Amino acid sequence: MSPKAKTRYKCSNCGAVSPKWVGQCPECKEWNSYIEFVDSPSKTNKYNNASANFHYLNTTDNPKRYSTKISEFDRVVGGGIMSGSVVLLGGDPGIGKSTIALQILNYLIKNENIKALYFSGEESVHQLSLRAKRLNIDDKAFLLSTEVNIAAILNGIKKEKPQIAIIDSIQTAYSPNSDSLPGSISQVRECAIELMTVGKKNNIIIILIGHITKDGNIAGPKLLEHLVDTVLYMEGDKNNYFRILRSVKNRFGSTNEIGIFEMKQHGLEPVKNPSEIFLNERRKSASGSVVTCGLDSSRPLLIEIQALTTKATYAAPQRTTTGINTKRLSMLLAVIERQLEIFTGQFDVFVNIVGGLKFNEPAMDLPTIVAIVSSIRNVPIPDDTVIFGEVGLTGEIRNVSRIEQRVTEALRMGFQQIFLPTSARKSLKHFDKKIKLNFVSDIQSLIRTLF
Ligand SMILES: Nc1ncnc2c1ncn2[C@@H]1O[C@H](COP(=O)(O)OP(=O)(O)OP(=O)(O)O)[C@@H](O)[C@H]1O
Ligand SMILES: [Mg+2]
Repeated sequence: MSPKAKTRYKCSNCGAVSPKWVGQCPECKEWNSYIEFVDSPSKTNKYNNASANFHYLNTTDNPKRYSTKISEFDRVVGGGIMSGSVVLLGGDPGIGKSTIALQILNYLIKNENIKALYFSGEESVHQLSLRAKRLNIDDKAFLLSTEVNIAAILNGIKKEKPQIAIIDSIQTAYSPNSDSLPGSISQVRECAIELMTVGKKNNIIIILIGHITKDGNIAGPKLLEHLVDTVLYMEGDKNNYFRILRSVKNRFGSTNEIGIFEMKQHGLEPVKNPSEIFLNERRKSASGSVVTCGLDSSRPLLIEIQALTTKATYAAPQRTTTGINTKRLSMLLAVIERQLEIFTGQFDVFVNIVGGLKFNEPAMDLPTIVAIVSSIRNVPIPDDTVIFGEVGLTGEIRNVSRIEQRVTEALRMGFQQIFLPTSARKSLKHFDKKIKLNFVSDIQSLIRTLF
């Protein structure tokens, strides 16, 4: 051992280094993962000959964007995938990541005539072939490999020189340079950096598929978010058909975009008119049902909020929600009791946003209150009505964002009247389209008008 060499301890899971052995890693909380190693500093001074390379900006180059011609997808990535970009596609297990990746690849190959590689560390060629058959993908569309060793993957990419490579998933890739297990923090980071370097150098689009783990994203894609150019998350209720593709980070476009898809036998199909789909099965003249306009990112969506109130069976009445926050519901019930003098303590209250969507914006307050009162009184709200607005604790109705977009969407879908906050009048000064705007400033007067 050289005189300056020191014995140190390294976590075999996350790569954290400690001068002493520790039972539990303070970084990744793994037990008994520390192993001894000898840290011998290099004798040559590495700072001597190192020098950075310098370049001028190049504003004349116009990098190519590859279009899938699926407008829902292209919009989310900022108008097509940028050549040489690194995209992280994350989502819960089984949500449809591999499905959309295969479909994107198929469309890119058809429209842009590009060469593609698909590395599947999770599924066998047989499993992938079954899915590809269901999605109507041609056998010879792209090359497939089940390799997980990052060195072999990188060499394969360098040899085949594709325009796009998909790694499904980054958690299964492993680097022989690291002692830790595949899926651990240091492995995921090392493999992603290696792939990024090769992608950027050779102008290859790299799509990394990543799982969100249930236990706090330890080796999940969160770790990679700052490294990659674009982060897309696929969300949705697995028991429902709708899937939302959301851009969380995008170096080449807006992050306020979502794409809405429906999971079908032949794969994910873009939903062209989501408001229509979400209102499709609405029962006309049903009490407890209110149509509202919610905003998901920058996109206005007409949705149905349903409330059902039944006589409570237990001493503590139930409050159950899907799609809105349960604490917000408790607050709204308190407002109903205090400001409208309608007592809800004897009722079990269920509130549901139809279609498995989630909205945690305050604009849902007013339609939720109206749906609950409509259910208690058993009086339906007129079918041609849209309601939105935030409600304060004193029963005042407050303004919400992007009023004009919401009103335009209601108009587009053929609704005749909207109940909306009085303070929204200013934003709609120049709005002269044919829809009746009922401005309301407190819930007491709105409830008197509707019931
Ligand atoms: N025949 C089918 N018809 C409709 N939908 C199907 C069919 N087969 C599978 N699916 C849908 O595909 C989903 C699985 O898709 P996929 O394997 O692409 O997800 P994933 O996110 O890649 O999963 P994993 O985390 O296991 O890699 C299922 O949850 C189901 O909704
Ligand atoms: Mg998969």
